[in-house]
Amino acid sequence: MTLAVRYILSRGPVIPVVTIDDATDGPDLARALLEGGISVIEVTMRTPAALAAVRAIRDTVPEMLAGVGTLLDPGRIGDVLASGAQFAVSPGLDLALVEACREAGLPLLPGIQTVSEAMAARRAGLDTLKFFPAKAAGGPGALGQIHPVLPELKFCPTGGIGAADAKSYLALANVLCVGGSFPAPTDAIRARDWKTVRENSKTVCSLTGQGFRQG
Ligand code: 3PG
Repeated sequence: MTLAVRYILSRGPVIPVVTIDDATDGPDLARALLEGGISVIEVTMRTPAALAAVRAIRDTVPEMLAGVGTLLDPGRIGDVLASGAQFAVSPGLDLALVEACREAGLPLLPGIQTVSEAMAARRAGLDTLKFFPAKAAGGPGALGQIHPVLPELKFCPTGGIGAADAKSYLALANVLCVGGSFPAPTDAIRARDWKTVRENSKTVCSLTGQGFRQG
């Protein structure tokens, strides 16, 4: 089944952006996030283990909705789908990539940083976007100013966000969730420190008053 990007972003307050060196860590990481209240994971394709990690998560932790991040080239879509990934995220807006994902049935969350890029995405039929890099692009103030002119667009701001400032993004009318490495930092994954991942996840869910929503 192909999921809608808006549904994926509505599962909870945060999508953890994770970088995994050892694919066998994927299932333990996914379970720790779930125990902390988070049910979506974005595995960046910045390590050779990424797609195998997605495969392992999909095979063993079916409650976790798993996608890939840092999708740059249409040529990788076949491998992404073969991994079982349920969605993909790209850091910027590439209309050829948008079209290729649409044809392949792979839900894509592309990044935008400016109003012009948001307009181009809207023209391409998209209504749900990543705002990246969120902090450098002006943070909640900038994103809030986009809402009156493009009210139909919803966002997942990502980049430079921590647990403390997640709430100010989530308070915006055009934000469905935030993305970031803060629930599962790469150091914690490398150390297999699942307790920290679980506690970080609980913290962000309690800060925002939201756990994950299923169904
Ligand atoms: C990434 O590309 O790694 C994400 O945007 C996460 O960024 P962050 O580490 O600033 O949360």
